[in-house]
Amino acid sequence: MSAAPEVRIVDDAEELACEAADLLVWLGQQAITAGGRFRVALSGGSTPKVLYTMLASPAFSGQLEWPRVDFFFGDERCVPPDHPDSNFGIANESLLRPLKIASGRVFRMRGEDSNPDQAARQYEDVIRKEFGASAPASPSFDLILLGLGDDGHTASLFAGTPALEERTRLVVANLAPRGVKNRLTLTTSTINHASTVLFLVSGISKADAVHVVLDDRDRDGGRVPAKLIRPVSGRLIWLLDRAAASALTVAKQGVVSHEE
Ligand code: 6PG
Repeated sequence: MSAAPEVRIVDDAEELACEAADLLVWLGQQAITAGGRFRVALSGGSTPKVLYTMLASPAFSGQLEWPRVDFFFGDERCVPPDHPDSNFGIANESLLRPLKIASGRVFRMRGEDSNPDQAARQYEDVIRKEFGASAPASPSFDLILLGLGDDGHTASLFAGTPALEERTRLVVANLAPRGVKNRLTLTTSTINHASTVLFLVSGISKADAVHVVLDDRDRDGGRVPAKLIRPVSGRLIWLLDRAAASALTVAKQGVVSHEE
């Protein structure tokens, strides 16, 4: 039985990024102290850009032994790495290049490959090699960052798509209903084996989706894939700004709102 999600509410997008940066640094320090490495899967989309820029700023860049951090990705659009829609491209510009992360510590999904299924299988091989986790073992990321779409998707796990039914593979190709259609994504099982899963959600446009995921006890993740994210034994943290949390009812009870 997975633990209940921890819901934290902060004032705005800037404070969301600051809170997330503090948490990522803390989790990184714990992982490096315990095992010498910190393996994190970065999220795509626009929300985490503020976090990435903040981590690369003088306020945070000196707080973590970056050479001991291995950067993976939760999902990718099937575009070249220098394409404006590339999740790797966004993280590279705002975080990896500014922090001078060695290319050998960055494990990106090859969105540019002509065969997405093969690219997904290749990425699974990379993960299994880096974690030393042969099939059928499920590797455990120290941290997986996730965003939430206004339709309740997360990573590239969209309602009604085959990826939601995948039970054995770590990574699959999937189709998105809008934007860049061909995607690569970690599966729900891979995400649910992480030590910590952190959703970063900002803005009023996400308020209804946040309410459905966190207030509505209906566990049907088929229509709202983010509901399928329930770590087997790890922590699930929802970090929301006030706008994204504005439609919350049940889940808001007992929440520590940093706005107080
Ligand atoms: C992607 C992301 C996706 C994203 C949400 C929220 O590749 O687009 O993985 O799941 O996190 O769509 O996106 P925004 O942060 O841009 O609102």
